[in-house]
Amino acid sequence: MNPLSIAALEQTAQRAAEHAYAPYSKYPVGAAVLAPDGTQYSGCNVENASFGLTNCAERTAVFKAVAAGHRQIACVAIYTPTPEPAAPCGACRQVLREFGPDMKVVSVCDGDGRIETTLSALLPNSFGPESL
Ligand code: THU
Repeated sequence: MNPLSIAALEQTAQRAAEHAYAPYSKYPVGAAVLAPDGTQYSGCNVENASFGLTNCAERTAVFKAVAAGHRQIACVAIYTPTPEPAAPCGACRQVLREFGPDMKVVSVCDGDGRIETTLSALLPNSFGPESL
């Protein structure tokens, strides 16, 4: 995958965090997913007074991509304004897996640390469409 498109995806994720609705956790997250045709979709976390209804940034981005007609995701970038990068939560790993079991996962933050991995490393022996 082109390093330039990954760098651009990281920037999109960072910008998306500016729209995070996180009044309860005060933990904004931005995400961006890359479709195979190069299109990017961004997302932020959207919390709710009924806390359990919160939607993570990654899932917001995936749902936007799918709603636009995509069925494959090549890469996801996640940004948090924190000193250390954050890996996607378990629920988001499963939702991402549906649309790209081999996708690249990149987490960036305000510090120098970054996580670069794959979904299959984060979610081994996963359950997916082929399992049904
Ligand atoms: N959050 C995400 O947006 N993505 C994750 O992968 C982990 C957690 C959000 C949910 C909630 O709004 C806040 O971060 C604190 O958990």
